[in-house]
Amino acid sequence: MNPEPLNVHDYERLARERVSDDAWEYLRGGAGDETTLRANCAAFERWQLRPRLLVDVRNVDTRTTVLGTEIALPVVIAPVALQKLMHPDGEAATARGAAAAGTIMCLSTSATMRPAAVAAAAPGAPRWFQVYVFNDRGITRGLIEEARDSGYSALALTIDAPILGRREGTLRIGFTTLPDELEVAGDIFRDLDASVSWRDFEWIAGFGLPVLLKGVLTAEDARLAVEHGAAGVVVSNHGGRQLDGVPATIDALEEVGEAVDGRGEILLDSGVRRGIDVLRALALGAGAVLAGRAPIWGLGARGEEGVADVLRLLREEVALGLALIGCRSPSEVTRAHVTTRAWNG
Ligand code: FNR
Repeated sequence: MNPEPLNVHDYERLARERVSDDAWEYLRGGAGDETTLRANCAAFERWQLRPRLLVDVRNVDTRTTVLGTEIALPVVIAPVALQKLMHPDGEAATARGAAAAGTIMCLSTSATMRPAAVAAAAPGAPRWFQVYVFNDRGITRGLIEEARDSGYSALALTIDAPILGRREGTLRIGFTTLPDELEVAGDIFRDLDASVSWRDFEWIAGFGLPVLLKGVLTAEDARLAVEHGAAGVVVSNHGGRQLDGVPATIDALEEVGEAVDGRGEILLDSGVRRGIDVLRALALGAGAVLAGRAPIWGLGARGEEGVADVLRLLREEVALGLALIGCRSPSEVTRAHVTTRAWNG
């Protein structure tokens, strides 16, 4: 038996063995009956690939560009809160793992390290900062200014969490407040501002960085996003952690893409576990995806090295998948490379 992790699922199992029960439930869980959590992965399987063959695929290049930044693979690390719960090196390890793999880390507002400290952990690497709006706007302002001044190149305003979703798994085990030993800038369990609206988007855009809206699931909000000047949208259901019953993101992607109609960038997250999931998202209109749990399983299992290795495995899967559908780069993947017609599951 080869004990080395061969895929993201192996890292999930390794992380389960290494992190505390509280941390595990926080990382794993979804809202309500977890129908959306399950649908995220199941829906990818319904989209089947249509390979085009007899194409010279000796030189496959997985690089692409998001918001003007070149990345080695079309996968960015999604903002995930409280990373010191998963590994003592926390967000610093994730930042170094992302840098080693040649991609962007999006730091969460609810990080256990300040934006400047994470930047210092991997100097020069590209980074985005995720924004939650707190009742105390001074906390939000301070974080955004610190991120901007320490070189973060974009903001991702998360719009699907004016109130934290109800995750019964964490309620059941009693993980409902921030552990005392973790230092965070604001308390997502208590102090999110539920009044957040398009006016706050304008305030956040005023800090001078491009803004992505994370959590868009409908054509209506996608249209408003571009009309308000968003640089792009992340089609996301927060990994099934906010509103149970919303569609899997891969099923909402085309609707959003048609509404954006080339006026902004389109990213997708929620349920990405395999290189072929990335291909499916590219085919349905995303320029790249974000991965949340997958790299954090790497972090929990092996710290910085685990993060980098998860990204390496995904890059290799993307490269192999591209070759086998007859594409030499992410930009060659088209709508014709997927279909749902032959589903028989
Ligand atoms: C998240 N996510 C998240 N999103 C965000 O905008 N700010 C945050 O602080 C967090 N925190 C967070 C913690 C944990 C433990 C998870 C699993 C997720 C959502 C995240 O950015 C992303 O949308 C999902 O994780 C994508 O789904 P997958 O890749 O985990 O299936």
